[in-house]
Amino acid sequence: MADFRILEDTPKSVSRRRFIQGVIAGGAAVSSANYLFRAATLPAVGERLITLNVNGRQRRVDVPKQETLAWTLRYKLGLTGTKLGCDRAECGACTVLIDDVPHYSCSALTHTVRGRRVVTIEGLASPDGTLHPVQQGIIEEQGFQCAFCMSGFIMATVGFLKTNPSPTRSELAHGISGNLCRCQDYDKILTAMMRGAEIMRGLTHA
Ligand code: FES
Ligand code: FES
Repeated sequence: MADFRILEDTPKSVSRRRFIQGVIAGGAAVSSANYLFRAATLPAVGERLITLNVNGRQRRVDVPKQETLAWTLRYKLGLTGTKLGCDRAECGACTVLIDDVPHYSCSALTHTVRGRRVVTIEGLASPDGTLHPVQQGIIEEQGFQCAFCMSGFIMATVGFLKTNPSPTRSELAHGISGNLCRCQDYDKILTAMMRGAEIMRGLTHA
């Protein structure tokens, strides 16, 4: 406070108002310089075009190096079933399968999944509309409240069941513990997922 008074009381010094204006203008200049520098170093659009295998289809898409898979899926390919919750590898809402293994798509750079198989919630049902057994289990058990977390839980469960098709309840709970539910509907979610596993085993053994 004393410093400000000195500045304001001394006509030949820079006033507080001018000082702040200078800081803001300087910051803007630095920001502009950063932006221009980035723009100059980013590859041209043609160089960023890549092909992704998503839900069994080859998708051509323009992707900057720093873009996450969740962003590409949702905002470039229109696959909004993949949700963005925390956007920092904590909640699991963005879970997709990459080569059959569940991954947080908010924390995977799109360029790193070139040549790999990405499956999102939109790619689970059969072409004739038949739901995946895990989806069917949810229909039967009504496992979710708001369902924001649902697609992430489904993808995590589908991935887990590929490695352990007959889990106990606690094994499955552990297997999908990387997914969080804000409604805290865990017990019902687990029941639904266990039902999905049961349906899947029935289909496998039919
Ligand atoms: S949005 Fe990816 S883990 Fe939460
Ligand atoms: S059911 Fe609402 S966040 Fe999980």
